[in-house]
Amino acid sequence: MSKTAILELDGKKYEFPVYVGTENEVAIDIEKLRGATGAITIDPGYKNTGSCNSEITFLDGEEGILRYRGYSIEELADKSNFLEVSYLLVFGQLPTAKQLEQFENDIRKYTLVNEEMKTILEGFPKTAHPMGVLSSLTSALTAFNPKPVNVDNEKELYDAVCKTMGKFMVIATWTYRRRMGYPLNYYDNTKGYVENFMRLMFEIPTEPYKMDNKVVAALDKLFILHADHEQNCSTSTVRIVGSSHAGLFASISAGVSALWGPLHGGANQAVLEMLQEIHDNGGDVDKYVLKAKDKEDPFRLMGFGHRVYKNFDPRATIIKKAADDVLTAMGVDDPLLDIAKKLEKVALEDEYFKARSLYPNVDFYSGIIYRAMGIPVEMYTVLFAIGRLPGWIAQWKEMRLNKEPIGRPRQVYMGENLRAFVPVEKR
Ligand code: ACO
Repeated sequence: MSKTAILELDGKKYEFPVYVGTENEVAIDIEKLRGATGAITIDPGYKNTGSCNSEITFLDGEEGILRYRGYSIEELADKSNFLEVSYLLVFGQLPTAKQLEQFENDIRKYTLVNEEMKTILEGFPKTAHPMGVLSSLTSALTAFNPKPVNVDNEKELYDAVCKTMGKFMVIATWTYRRRMGYPLNYYDNTKGYVENFMRLMFEIPTEPYKMDNKVVAALDKLFILHADHEQNCSTSTVRIVGSSHAGLFASISAGVSALWGPLHGGANQAVLEMLQEIHDNGGDVDKYVLKAKDKEDPFRLMGFGHRVYKNFDPRATIIKKAADDVLTAMGVDDPLLDIAKKLEKVALEDEYFKARSLYPNVDFYSGIIYRAMGIPVEMYTVLFAIGRLPGWIAQWKEMRLNKEPIGRPRQVYMGENLRAFVPVEKR
């Protein structure tokens, strides 16, 4: 293959280097484009723009492939656990048994959150959406940890990773406790990371809490499936905020805000609300498929379609099976699962969805599992954020260690040309 790409502009030819990734992705390097030609590229939504080189996650949307550090998502979901996957994403290799134990213990060192954080939490109305509260609390952690991380110091960087993993989990569950009016819970360092999530959320002082191991295992798997997804909206946000050398907590806080939107992580809440609405209106799936196809109607089938996967979302396949398994194991018969399956079948056979390669994404079934676990719908995106945290950290770390320049896109200005100011009395 040619190692250069030729661009012709105003009768002049320019050559740009072409390079190929380890999975044969071809990239035209236009770093010198503006300097050489005076022109820029325009690519709304960055559909064709690679913002970085990365060694973390590979995904092939056409083939439905997702791999973390070279390991397939199917194998990781089947054989690994969330903390091990977190270590893999952040540090590049699967940990040895000793490294994994050390990692878990080091996270435990940071699971106590400053009591003053409670005052900030109490300042929010109980009705506030947990994602907004989580974003604010994550940002507030900066106030309690003002020293910027020296990324060239391995120990400091490692500690910052463990601190973020430890504190984020606790404050994420506090958003729920506040909403419910429950006393805030503390992490129990004798228990596992995902077990702690369940305790932190649901244990109340008046009665013993019984952990369902099947639920913990399913949740662990869901966290793995959400752990990274290369340069998606929230991850790109984390990288771009971090590129100004803003701190890790500030960057993660921005990632939480980006994830909140219904076109991104907020879709899992939107899916459940949509399934509930279909159910409450008599379960007429065909009517909603028609609405989704109607260009005059803003309604979209939530949980369908993906910016990158145009064949199937491999995570959706794993989750669909997990939803079946969990619900059967828990003896839950959920009419919303039946509606989801029917909707998937109708949509997959419909020409509109086929022609546009619209398939169920990771969020189509996750809400059904969360519902069976007793997790309220407003917390679904918070769970996504807990799962995505190691990915955000890994991407932030990679961006800083690669000494990437500050992210600063350009624009094509389409506004007014220079005009004279008109005083208010003459307008
Ligand atoms: N329902 C109905 N039609 C849809 C849907 C949908 N869910 N998604 C896309 N389309 C249609 C569009 O109307 C458009 O049709 P047109 O070509 O006739 O104009 C075509 O499919 C392409 O859609 P785009 O919005 O251009 O696709 P894009 O790649 O920009 O968007 C997105 C992807 C945002 C995920 C979109 O499919 C969507 O809004 N889905 C619903 C929300 C959702 O589930 N988000 C979760 C994403 S996964 C995640 O973040 C973890």
